Amino acid sequence: MNSLMRLNNVVKWYVEKRKNQIIKAVDGVSFSIDRGTILGIIGESGCGKSTLGRLLIALENPTDGSIEFEGEKIEHILKKNPLKFRRSCQMIFQNPFDTFDPRDDIEKVLTTPLKVHNIGGSQEERLDICIKTMEDAGIRPAMDYMNRYPHELSGGQLQRISIIRSMLLNPKLIIADEPVSMLDVSVRADIINTLLELTRKRETSMVFISHDIATTRYISDMIAVMYLGRIVEMGKTDDVIHNPKHPYTKALISNCASINPLEKKDVIKIAGEPPTPIGTGPGCYFYERCYKASKKCEKSYPDMVEIEKGHYASCYYLG
Ligand SMILES: Nc1ncnc2c1ncn2[C@@H]1O[C@H](COP(=O)(O)OP(=O)(O)OP(=O)(O)O)[C@@H](O)[C@H]1O
Ligand SMILES: [Mg+2]
Repeated sequence: MNSLMRLNNVVKWYVEKRKNQIIKAVDGVSFSIDRGTILGIIGESGCGKSTLGRLLIALENPTDGSIEFEGEKIEHILKKNPLKFRRSCQMIFQNPFDTFDPRDDIEKVLTTPLKVHNIGGSQEERLDICIKTMEDAGIRPAMDYMNRYPHELSGGQLQRISIIRSMLLNPKLIIADEPVSMLDVSVRADIINTLLELTRKRETSMVFISHDIATTRYISDMIAVMYLGRIVEMGKTDDVIHNPKHPYTKALISNCASINPLEKKDVIKIAGEPPTPIGTGPGCYFYERCYKASKKCEKSYPDMVEIEKGHYASCYYLG
């Protein structure tokens, strides 16, 4: 079986009792992540990317639908062996300064997860494992970092430590939620390359969440495009980038100058701001802002169709 994780119609709704509203953060998402592959998830702010990421590593439970990891429902795995699941799926957060306890030095930051998961017989052995992984990631001499505290490092250095920490346990899946968006532009490419090298070397799968289409294209094997809690298009990176079918994907790509040099294609404007996922449906969630929408789009949500092998989109006016 090549699939590592499978989502089946996953829903996450938040109820705002004060306003008597339901926020449909994730609203029926199905896909599967293959072993050793990188899936990029792109979409505007508030479309549910981080909520989806939290569901994937079971920081939150879905309101409906199911998530399977290696063929077994996550809720079952968590009941039987929570530590095993925690070890298999790791998350890298956007802000590395929020990730660590400021009172712990880097040695403690890195060796604690090994201790929790019973890896390495002694502190020396654990330290050796950390140093090897750090040197694999180009941090030399690794020992120089061990007695430093998070606030003594730059954002880029600390995010590298965060990546190393997530890799130490040899996870099967990494969720990276906008891992470079808060870092200086000058260090972003380097951090992305570290992430890419480590995951490739260890054949770790990754879900890479980002606003940035150019970076997502560079790093991902597959791309899923989200809009208001739903995936509107998904496929191999080249298919989605070079042959986008959904009007929303087309607009996003046409607005990305490094992919679409302005002289080549017209920029497609998306009207208005991304709305909040409240009261969506019954029609297509994008129809109010869509340049192709007709009456039909207002009435019912289009099914996801396979346009070509492994390339899916949901729109009445694909192409
Ligand atoms: N714990 C929560 N309680 C209530 N609403 C929430 C909660 N978490 C997220 N939301 C709402 O769910 C929607 C999706 O949020 P989410 O953070 O997943 O989006 P995102 O795509 O990660 O956005 P960004 O690109 O800004 O990080 C938003 O409308 C958000 O306000
Ligand atoms: Mg987010």
